[in-house]
Parts: sequence; C-alpha cells; structure tokens
Amino acid sequence: MKGILLHGGHGTRLRPLTHTGPKQLLPIANKPMSQYCIESMRESGVKEIVIIIGGAGSNKVKEHYGNGEKFDVKISYIEQDYPRGIAHAIRLCKEFVGNDKFLVFLGDNIIQRPIIDYVRNFTDSDAAASILLCEVDNPSRFGIAEVKNGQILRIMEKPKNPPSNLAVTGIYLLTPKIFDIIDRLKPSWRNELEITDALHMLLEEKNKIIYNMITDYWKDTGTPDDIINANGAILEKMTPYFHARKESNVSVEGKVMVGEGTVIKSGAKIIGPVIIGDNCTIESDTIVGPNTSIGNNSKLAKCQISNSIVMGDCNIESNIKIKNSIIAYNSTINYDPKEHDSKVFLLGEGTRITL
Ligand code: DAU
Repeated sequence: MKGILLHGGHGTRLRPLTHTGPKQLLPIANKPMSQYCIESMRESGVKEIVIIIGGAGSNKVKEHYGNGEKFDVKISYIEQDYPRGIAHAIRLCKEFVGNDKFLVFLGDNIIQRPIIDYVRNFTDSDAAASILLCEVDNPSRFGIAEVKNGQILRIMEKPKNPPSNLAVTGIYLLTPKIFDIIDRLKPSWRNELEITDALHMLLEEKNKIIYNMITDYWKDTGTPDDIINANGAILEKMTPYFHARKESNVSVEGKVMVGEGTVIKSGAKIIGPVIIGDNCTIESDTIVGPNTSIGNNSKLAKCQISNSIVMGDCNIESNIKIKNSIIAYNSTINYDPKEHDSKVFLLGEGTRITL
C-alpha cells in the first residue's frame, strides 16, 4: 500500500512558530511531529510515501526527509501551490497512487497506537474508505461522523450543531474511487475541497465506509496547547535512557531521556517525564520538568521550566519560572543586571508573552 502525507497548509494558528517553517516539523519530544506519521505508516507496511508540501519553509521538509532512505521508506514530493483543501491535496496524488488502496495521514495528527490492524481490515474489505473516529469534547472544531447501529449516516466538516462528538481523525484509508468524487466536489465555506464532503458524497452514492474507534491517545495539534499536551503524552510513553554526564548531587525523578554530550551540573533537578537532547548544559541552579523537552545544544541556567518545549540551540539564563511555553530554535532569554527594573524584548511577528 502507498501512503500520502499532508505537509502543506499555512499553520496560521501556530504563528509565530510557523513563520519560518511548516507546523508539521515542530518538534514533539525532540522529533518533528510528521516523523511520527512516517513511522506509523512504515510500521503498517507502507513503503512508498508522497509528501505534499507548500507554504513557508517547505524546503525544510525535503531537507529533513530527503529520499526517505534514513526512515526506511521511499519518499517523493508533490508541491501544492496553495492550501486548497485536503481533498485537493489528495487529488494531486492520483498518478502516484495508481489503482491500489492507499493511506492518507495529516502531518499534524499524533496517534500513539499502531494502525496496522485497521490497515489490514481495510485491505481485506470491500469498503470504498475506512476512517478512524475519536470522541472529542469540542466537536465543532473537527470533521464529524453521525453513526447509528455501526453504520455511518453522515459526515460533515466542523458543524455548528454537531450531531455527535465523533471526530473524523486525519488518518484516511481510501480507494482510487475518491478521485472521481473529488473531481465533482465544490469548494466549502472556507473555500477548500473538503475530504469530509468527499467522504459524504461517497456515502450518498451508496459506497461503503467502515470505521474504527480510537479509544486511546489522538491529537490534532492545531494550537500551541495541543502541541504541549501531545509532548507530555509522548514523553510519558518513551523508554528512558541516560547518555549524559551527571555530576554528583543531581536529583532525577520519573522518566528521563538524556542525550549524548549533555552535562547536568551538581544541584540541578530533573523531574520526568523530560527529554533533553545532545550537547546541552543544565546548570546547577535549574529545575527541568515535568512534561518538558529540551532540544540539542541548549543551555539552561537559573530557571525553572515545566510543561514546555524548548527547541535546539536555545540559551535560557535567567531567574524565571517558565511553564506552558514553546520556545523556538536559537532563542535567548537572559538576565542583564543593568536592566533589572525593566524587560528587554526582540520579538518576532505574532509573539505571545504573559508576564
Ligand atoms: O485533524 C483532523 C481534522 O483535520 C478533521 O477532523 C477535519 O475533518 C479535517 O478537515 C482537518 O481539519 P483541520 O481544520 O484541522 O485541517 P487543517 O487545515 O489544519 O489541515 C490539516 C493538515 O493538512 C495540516 O497538516 C495541513 C495539511 N494541509 C491542509 C490543507 C487545507 C495541506 O497539506 N494542504 C491543504 O490544502
């Protein structure tokens, strides 16, 4: 089976983090979120993947995934000129897909359970599509399915009055029948060709759509809070390792993953779940965790940081408590005694600060 990974879109709700690159490359537990999708596809037997790219910094996607060799899959790319909808992106892959059933993953969806059983069920079935549903608290934010007696009755995009709380997650198993449907779709109120409309049309034309329920973790990482939440959930499931140099009198509790070349100085406290990348320095007067990721080559001193993501090459050297935050690559937060009664900022467009 071939796979399609959607890596385009504008990522507007995640600005300023997405001014310089696609949201799907934002790290969760120090790994780009779309890499979890690639790994999940590979684990379910998908060997050939096309990645839809478009928008700011899409060259970074090619730089990271290359021809896929490093990830043990074959990867090619198709450029989408503008985010004209998920169905539009899928339509671009008609030739790539050929006549076989295929798997589509939205690159900002995080799922922890292997999907191989769903893939097998679909391969063995005569259904035109298979979707994964998950109960959510805020159904107006998602595509929603109305289900009765195990049958899907309707599928709709972000309904104002949702008939159920069953979100259609961004993992779709499809047959080439969908291409003919997409060719007949009209753009939605948000001017996109919606995959939910295509699925609904499949149903209306008497095609069978099967579904499975995700009962454990699934997240559409649309907002900073979603990303922080997914980061904590992934850290919780990781297998601990410790390749760093730890001085005496370092307090480490809970699940902790620490990379090579990192030094944790005497007096520092790490409260898992925490991941710290390679070549970091955690100074003695610092508390890291829980639910926190620190990217490679970062230095932390004097601070307390919890429930947060600090990407690579950051330098935080200030007597502050940081929580529920995302700090992008190459950022600096420091203390200048000359400025003790004022704050100094150099902020990118769309920055959010709570003081
Ligand atoms: O996450 C599940 C939800 O994803 C579903 O419940 C909805 O039915 C589905 O429409 C989608 O809703 P979103 O509003 O969250 O979609 P978003 O615009 O965020 O795009 C989803 C992913 O697809 C994201 O990684 C960007 C990528 N994308 C999106 C569009 C519109 C593209 O690559 N090209 C596009 O044209």
